[in-house]
Amino acid sequence: MRILVTGGAGFIGSHFVKRLVAAGDEVVVLDKLTYSGNPENLEGVEHEFHEGDIVDPAAVAAAGRGFAAIVNFAAETHVDRSILGPDEFIRTDVLGTLVLLKAAEEFGARFVQVSTDEVYGDLDTGGSARESDPLRPSSPYAASKAGGDLQVLAAVRTFGVDASITRGSNTYGPNQYPEKLVPLFTTNALDGEPLPLYGDGRQVRDWLHVDDHCAAIELVLREGKAGEIYNVGGGEEVENRTIAASIVELTGADPELLRRVDDRPGHDRRYSLDSGKLRALGWRTTHTLADGLPATVEWYRANRAWWEPIKSGEYRAYYERQYAKRLA
Ligand code: NAD
Ligand code: TYD
Repeated sequence: MRILVTGGAGFIGSHFVKRLVAAGDEVVVLDKLTYSGNPENLEGVEHEFHEGDIVDPAAVAAAGRGFAAIVNFAAETHVDRSILGPDEFIRTDVLGTLVLLKAAEEFGARFVQVSTDEVYGDLDTGGSARESDPLRPSSPYAASKAGGDLQVLAAVRTFGVDASITRGSNTYGPNQYPEKLVPLFTTNALDGEPLPLYGDGRQVRDWLHVDDHCAAIELVLREGKAGEIYNVGGGEEVENRTIAASIVELTGADPELLRRVDDRPGHDRRYSLDSGKLRALGWRTTHTLADGLPATVEWYRANRAWWEPIKSGEYRAYYERQYAKRLA
């Protein structure tokens, strides 16, 4: 199959591209190469690359025609950045999704929207979110992803686009930009820098290895039904302070580096997904944190050449803005 992967130079998208290429698919990547897009993630991987913005119909047209499918990973993805400035999130995550849906309609292509468990909002009183649950996004990021999801459902119903949505939980693994919890804490620990734990550190996330996330997206691409949403939860609900303590232990860092800092505004206490619908299609996780977290920490230890250049430049300015006052 000839498949357009948008956002394919990012963390999850690049793992997905490798997976499709290994399966024998022909892959075209459209990526704007924002701060988190990195061509190195696709080095040595056979694909056709187009630098461009999913919001720009001309850039989407320039990526070509005749796709059997479009899988959309392209997004602004970090909650803290959405709090500092939500505008770009609405542009890419909502408007960009709409532009791609129009292309899918024009090509008669299947469409998969890669979304997130954050659209369900806080599950602090217990239970697990099901696909039919209402959307209660808390952050500008989550609200923009929810907006994209609603455009997908409208395109299925109104224009007959063959589209499905995946809602994945917190994903970790190699090549994740070091602004998210696992790579930020791992690279800071390896550098002897403080690990800024928000609030009491007892927020719960449902951790999912990137390979398991990509396997789920591939299954939905090939076997999912139009108009259907599929939750993709790792099933490992763990408090942030536990993840942080594991990273300290795995890196051999000084435990004194762990610092409680001012909480994120609007911080969701807990996410939890019921992934029974996807399991009924045959999906199972193949990694647990017990093997996936040590392997991920080892990848960062062995690949300083990947993350050290990132941590200078634009990243430094963001880091100062996000953490300087918190860590002072
Ligand atoms: P990422 O930030 O690593 O990658 C995003 C990619 O999209 C980058 O390559 C970036 O250059 C590209 N991009 C951004 N704006 C673009 C635009 N306007 N046009 C074209 N390309 C653009 O993010 P990620 O963690 O790999 O997330 C990928 C997708 O998975 C996102 O849609 C995200 O919402 C979703 N998701 C992520 C997680 C997670 O824990 N990381 C969990 C569930 C769902
Ligand atoms: P993050 O990786 O940003 O993912 P998300 O907000 O999408 O869940 O954060 C994961 C959890 O870790 C979340 O509860 C916020 C917390 N966190 C910290 O405590 N400190 C940090 O510096 C970061 C980035 C996150």
